[in-house]
Amino acid sequence: MPNRVVVGMQWGDEGKGKIVDLLTEEADIIARYSGGANAGHTVVINEDRFILHLIPTGILHERKICVIGNGVVIDLKHLFSELEELKKRDIRFQRRLLISQSAHLVMPYHKVEERLEEEARGKGRIGSTGRGIGPAYQDKMARRGIRAMDIFNPRLFKQKVEWNLKVKDDLLSALPEHELIALKNKSLDVLKLNRKVKPLLADVSWFLNQSIKKRKSILFEGAQGTLLDVDFGTYPYCTSSNTTAGAVCTGLGIAPSAIDEVIGVTKAYTTRVGNGPFPTEEKGKLGKILQERGNEFGATTGRPRRCGWLDLVLLKHSLRINGISKIALTKLDVLDQLDKIKVCVGYKYRGKILTEFVPDLRILENCQPVYKEFAGWQKTIGGTTNFKKLPERAKRYVDFISRKLNTLIFMISTGDKRNQTIRL
Ligand code: GDP
Ligand code: IMO
Ligand code: MG
Repeated sequence: MPNRVVVGMQWGDEGKGKIVDLLTEEADIIARYSGGANAGHTVVINEDRFILHLIPTGILHERKICVIGNGVVIDLKHLFSELEELKKRDIRFQRRLLISQSAHLVMPYHKVEERLEEEARGKGRIGSTGRGIGPAYQDKMARRGIRAMDIFNPRLFKQKVEWNLKVKDDLLSALPEHELIALKNKSLDVLKLNRKVKPLLADVSWFLNQSIKKRKSILFEGAQGTLLDVDFGTYPYCTSSNTTAGAVCTGLGIAPSAIDEVIGVTKAYTTRVGNGPFPTEEKGKLGKILQERGNEFGATTGRPRRCGWLDLVLLKHSLRINGISKIALTKLDVLDQLDKIKVCVGYKYRGKILTEFVPDLRILENCQPVYKEFAGWQKTIGGTTNFKKLPERAKRYVDFISRKLNTLIFMISTGDKRNQTIRL
């Protein structure tokens, strides 16, 4: 079986959790390569709904091995509470979860730092998930981050905490003295988790490369989406890591040649949480309809997701950046009752039509989308499992997207449950 990447093609929440869950059947190992607990991946199994943040979705399948790579930033407290939740729901993870010893830790001061910075940004705030992700990656790049393995070296750990608090003094001095002391203590308390962490840490790169030699199949579970990538997204309104397929190699320590296939996931429309440009956003009634029918509320923060039409300009960009060879199209059922459905095929800006993504916020914020309009099918397709049974108008919509992107749509999701899926 091939080694596949599943990557979000929009601003996250495309339904990667559901697609990864389905593809897990065909894999031996499921590996997260970037992001952290800012992700929220939903899997619905019968009547049970699971939301995974830090732990790979594959944990829900008995006997599959799950891996968290060095490219992920880990909030240990969050990790153990997520594992505790899984335990309560009878999901066993012993000897099934490996964490890179080189992964950087999200520390209590990262969350405080993020809150203070967001407050200071005022109107220009990113609208982050508040999970401390940005500051944790900043420290990694500044070469003062604390790695998972440091938890076994209390002296070094304390030194690093002290150094970090010193470096951040300017920002943190906004806190009252007692809060600052409490923050330092909380940060040092992370050390106490060392016993629990020990059995989970491993040389993930070595393990994966051995597994590849043994012809095991790996599913690389992307988090966030291409437009949230720190290099290829809508900077600075993005996350602080590379979310795209290239990050699989650096986030896990495997070679590009080990990747056989990249699968892109996109909704049949577009959503985004947090701030930043969104050319096809529908701010009025239609946006509300999509939000309600699609139940578009963040899986991590519960915030309402902004909604709008599908944007092929963005998807073309995602195809290119990730080398996507096939697409899983999700939430087609959400469009069921609409009388008109639009798809953006270009942007009009200062009299010119642009058909390629431009990383310039001024253009993205001020362009007018050029739409191709479709008549809606106005029939319920929820749960359909056979492409032939889709209404002609729905088929036409799917065919148009596939043709325009020149890419196979190999899976269509028509509901949140496992079996509400069309495979082509
Ligand atoms: P992820 O972050 O990409 O894994 O996506 P999220 O889990 O954050 O958000 C996707 C939401 O849509 C979840 O609540 C899913 O249960 C739900 N979902 C996934 N596929 C479908 C679908 O085809 N139809 C509907 N109605 N809901 C879906
Ligand atoms: P999944 O994996 C949707 C967004 C936040 C914010 C920006 C920066 O579930 O698709 P951060 O906390 O990362 O610094 O926030 O990125 N964001 C997501 N939006 N889905 C996600 O993950 C996201 N992870 C981060 O809303 O706009
Ligand atoms: Mg999500």
